[in-house]
Amino acid sequence: MNIILVMVITADGKTTKWTESAVHDWSSHEDKKHFQLLKSRHRLIVMGRKTYERIKSEIVLSTDTLRIVMTQRPSDFSRDAVDGQLEFTDEPVATLIKRLEAKGYETMLLVGGSRLNTEFLNNKLINECYLTIEPRFFGSGNNLFANTKANVSLELMELRQLNHQGTLMVHYRLHYDH
Ligand SMILES: NC(=O)c1ccc[n+]([C@@H]2O[C@H](COP(=O)([O-])OP(=O)(O)OC[C@H]3O[C@@H](n4cnc5c(N)ncnc54)[C@H](OP(=O)(O)O)[C@@H]3O)[C@@H](O)[C@H]2O)c1
Repeated sequence: MNIILVMVITADGKTTKWTESAVHDWSSHEDKKHFQLLKSRHRLIVMGRKTYERIKSEIVLSTDTLRIVMTQRPSDFSRDAVDGQLEFTDEPVATLIKRLEAKGYETMLLVGGSRLNTEFLNNKLINECYLTIEPRFFGSGNNLFANTKANVSLELMELRQLNHQGTLMVHYRLHYDH
């Protein structure tokens, strides 16, 4: 499975503004367009429960796309679940990936947040990432990953300036060093 992380961050690496959960308040219009385009090109999107709760009112379900929310309490969300479109799971990530591969999925978009990203990073599962870097500093907030130790080199695949303000989109391939 090719696993692609997609996140918008500030130039000081924050994925949230302080303790506020909303991201759309500070990310650029151009990033939103870029994210929409990536989503439209992928059939499998995975996110953490907190991210789901933040964005659930904006999700437009479709029979073309399977969204999976990772939570230790999937039964709490049984009323939200729609078979084949929106599923909740507490499977270990490696088991989840095997099951999805067996169903024919070859690529997964991992869309945060930091805690779930860390789980995937710790298991060396992220192959590529698209980071949109907004030209702002917040000083505090969530980081791309929660507190962990990693040793990953990034190979630049693409770099694009998305607007005049200086929003940058970088696409990297990950190489796990020992
Ligand atoms: N800047 C960006 O691009 C971006 C992208 C996404 C999200 N965000 C922001 O990030 C914040 C949320 O990030 P977060 O790090 O606090 O939370 P998160 O990663 O979205 O969700 C964490 C939750 O996911 C579940 N989870 C994580 N790993 C799991 C595993 N291995 N197995 C089962 N469940 C697992 C747990 O849910 P339970 O507690 O239910 O067990 C955990 O509490 C929000 O404010 C959101 O707006 C920013």
